[in-house]
Amino acid sequence: MAEKYEELIDKLTEEGDLSDDELLALITMPTGSGEGLFPNTPQAASDPCERLPLSPSFTEAEKALFDAADRVRRREYKTAVYVRGLIEFSSFCRNDCYYCGIRRDNRNLKRYRLSCDQILSCTDQGYDLGYRTFVLQGGEDPYYTDQMICDIVSSIKERHPDCAITLSIGEKERESYQRYFDAGAERYLLRHETADTRHYSLLHPAELSLEHRKKCLFDLKEIGYQVGSGFMVGSLGQTAGCLLEDIRFLQMLMPDMIGIGPYLTHHDTPLRDCCNGSLTMTLRLTSILRLIFPYALIPATTALGTIHPLGREMGMKAGANVVMPNLSPVKVRKQYQLYDNKICTGELSSECRGCMERRTSSSGYQLVIDRGDVKAH
Ligand code: 5AD
Ligand code: FES
Repeated sequence: MAEKYEELIDKLTEEGDLSDDELLALITMPTGSGEGLFPNTPQAASDPCERLPLSPSFTEAEKALFDAADRVRRREYKTAVYVRGLIEFSSFCRNDCYYCGIRRDNRNLKRYRLSCDQILSCTDQGYDLGYRTFVLQGGEDPYYTDQMICDIVSSIKERHPDCAITLSIGEKERESYQRYFDAGAERYLLRHETADTRHYSLLHPAELSLEHRKKCLFDLKEIGYQVGSGFMVGSLGQTAGCLLEDIRFLQMLMPDMIGIGPYLTHHDTPLRDCCNGSLTMTLRLTSILRLIFPYALIPATTALGTIHPLGREMGMKAGANVVMPNLSPVKVRKQYQLYDNKICTGELSSECRGCMERRTSSSGYQLVIDRGDVKAH
């Protein structure tokens, strides 16, 4: 049995792909961690939600999968871990996604917006801390007009021409994406969230469509952005079939960055009674994605660090090669609460920078001061 999985891992490593059935077998192989792999499907009898063991142990096949992914990441990127300074500049959002803590209908949240000057002071501070990429992320907040976004982007570029600017501000018109690009933004993060239409509609209100989100991603690519997509692991109704579709969609899109993290509940959302997604499944998918997309920039996400104290370290060892410490002003951090118990909400930017440096080197990798562009692919 175990041999079958190890054969699949070897084949995936060599060929960079597997048949649907083979991928499904890897996704659903038994775990040694004691975690439920699909905690929010009707089949899962996880009520109350299972607690994640503090030191999960993994089967030989799971370890072989993580190791294969680590070998491929070392072949492609050696031990480099790229670091991005994340600035969460607005917690206002016009959307009402059922899983997200900053959804429009959450009235219990104190909202904030950063001014252009506040954002620039974050990037100045970040530059001094050695960041050469800034990710500007926010809810879909119409307060920021295209002109304002362009002004923010070009002001950062003027002060720090050696830095890459990544936007993560949701679904926009193609013309808007073009304007931001012309102003100097060169990367865009927009997770597709799930590539399965039925699953998409379990997570989003009817006014949002998977089709439009996909169109945005292809527009961004055509314009010339380095594009990041990705999905949550373990959200309501997600099955192995959904994950297979996510992989197949990513193979069509061929994104430069792929961000995944466990779904985590937020007490003020309609999905408050769901269980958290699985650490194990997130690590498993991180490795599978590394083997299918050897060149990709794959972050060890904050959600991974939230679900387990060593989640980001485990993510790196399973194939992740990017970290995104928080650079937002400490006074607003608690208000960008996409999910409960989010880490790094009390630390100074300099503390997160030092913390990630230590976590990265203790895992056997090195944080590098670099724009961290994707390899040609
Ligand atoms: N749990 C985990 N990830 C979440 N995101 C939003 N809400 C949650 C949640 N409750 C993720 C989405 C989004 C990214 C910015 O954060 O995937 O794209
Ligand atoms: Fe923020 Fe560790 S990265 S405290």
